[in-house]
Amino acid sequence: QDVIAVAIDGPAGAGKSTIARAAAAQLGFVYVDTGALYRTIGLAVCRRGIDGTDVPGILATLPEIQVGLTYQDGAQHVLLDGEDVSDAIRTPQISTYASQVSSVPEVRAYLLDLQRDLARRQSVIMDGRDIGTVILPDAKVKIFLTASPEKRAARRCAELREKGQDVTVEGILADMERRDALDASRAVAPLKQAEDAVLVDTSDLTLEQSIEAVLTVIRDKM
Ligand code: C5P
Repeated sequence: QDVIAVAIDGPAGAGKSTIARAAAAQLGFVYVDTGALYRTIGLAVCRRGIDGTDVPGILATLPEIQVGLTYQDGAQHVLLDGEDVSDAIRTPQISTYASQVSSVPEVRAYLLDLQRDLARRQSVIMDGRDIGTVILPDAKVKIFLTASPEKRAARRCAELREKGQDVTVEGILADMERRDALDASRAVAPLKQAEDAVLVDTSDLTLEQSIEAVLTVIRDKM
């Protein structure tokens, strides 16, 4: 039987990862969080004391690092030179670094084969910004998942507070709008809805309803 690819793209905090993970579990597909890969490169750059806008510094970093992805009990973990950095990448500082390094074409090229290979080997739900437009243009199902900036910031804030981080909705909203603007305006693989993607707006949906909406779109297309 053929493998099936589901691409879910959208802005920061739209609930992509939570919804995609749940939908993948329902369908028996592997969930791939591509943002974690850009975050891992962002972390590597940050740890070297290189600025996120220092393109030569970022280019010099790429050949010296190993970015890996593994699954433990069905959960995706990212590795930087063999070290599991899955928790270390989840900070606002690394969000900014991820956004900055992801605008460098060589960074995107560096991660391209890794992402395509994952989708070739097994049925996946892959979430990111350019999965339906660039990484998997032939994906069987494409969804553009969004929500209002206020709802997205409030959800991300609750999530980070649960992890013990001292954050405010205002701070997150500002950070999110900055990242969205950067992601949507970059020259290479900008955040945009693929022409053949189905739009799902979760502003007024609960998490359960959002998962159901996404599963309905997927089942319709399968
Ligand atoms: O999805 P997440 O918020 O973890 O992604 C972090 C950053 O990585 C995004 O703001 C975006 O700049 C970048 N990214 C990307 N392409 C993807 C996934 C993430 O450019 N497919």
